[in-house]
Amino acid sequence: MKWFQREKVYREFLIGDGRKVILRPPKMGDLKDLLVFINSLVDEKADIPLDVRLTRQEEAEWLRSLLSEAKKGCSISIVAEIDGEIIGNASVHRGIGRRSHVGTLDIAVTKALRNMGIGTAMIKTFIEESRGIGLRSLHLSVFDSNISAKCLYSKIGFREVGRWPRAIRKGECYVDEICMALEL
Ligand SMILES: CC(C)(COP(=O)(O)OP(=O)(O)OC[C@H]1O[C@@H](n2cnc3c(N)ncnc32)[C@H](O)[C@@H]1OP(=O)(O)O)[C@@H](O)C(=O)NCCC(=O)NCCS
Repeated sequence: MKWFQREKVYREFLIGDGRKVILRPPKMGDLKDLLVFINSLVDEKADIPLDVRLTRQEEAEWLRSLLSEAKKGCSISIVAEIDGEIIGNASVHRGIGRRSHVGTLDIAVTKALRNMGIGTAMIKTFIEESRGIGLRSLHLSVFDSNISAKCLYSKIGFREVGRWPRAIRKGECYVDEICMALEL
């Protein structure tokens, strides 16, 4: 990147404590921060499919493939940053073939900064950006136990369209995985 080229920013806004959140595309230089971020979710046993910490190499492969997909218009990714630190990450992946008008969403915000509107801002950004690349629907799946995520998705307009019974193992228990959709 030449010194006079500005990095793309999707959105900037202030949260309740006055700090500025920047939503922007990820870059390879975010690798270290993204690894810390994903492993913090694993450590807190967040309601996400991943339950084992990732190595730097695994995260690097994931990030490389994400950036290459984004270049080809097959995904949109957003990182949320406060004071240079990554505090949120989300992606929409385009389907292939007869599903190429459908994007699948995943999202996470660091624990200390939840319920401050950052997730909402990221999903609203995806809705605008997804329309821009010709997607017609957004799909996602969420654990039935994930009350805050289910509330957030419903508030934005996603509706439950089905569920995979007992698809998720949490310790000795099983919970349903709920499928949600939003027509753009
Ligand atoms: C899901 C997640 C991304 C939401 O991000 P966020 O920044 O906290 O989202 P927001 O602050 O914009 O919105 C959260 C909404 O949930 C609501 N909420 C949170 N806990 C709730 C509860 N127990 N009952 C009802 N509503 C609840 C909040 O009130 C808020 O809605 P509001 O705008 O009316 O206040 C975040 O909780 C997260 O990263 N969780 C861990 C990873 C994860 O679960 N990812 C999703 C996998 S499907």
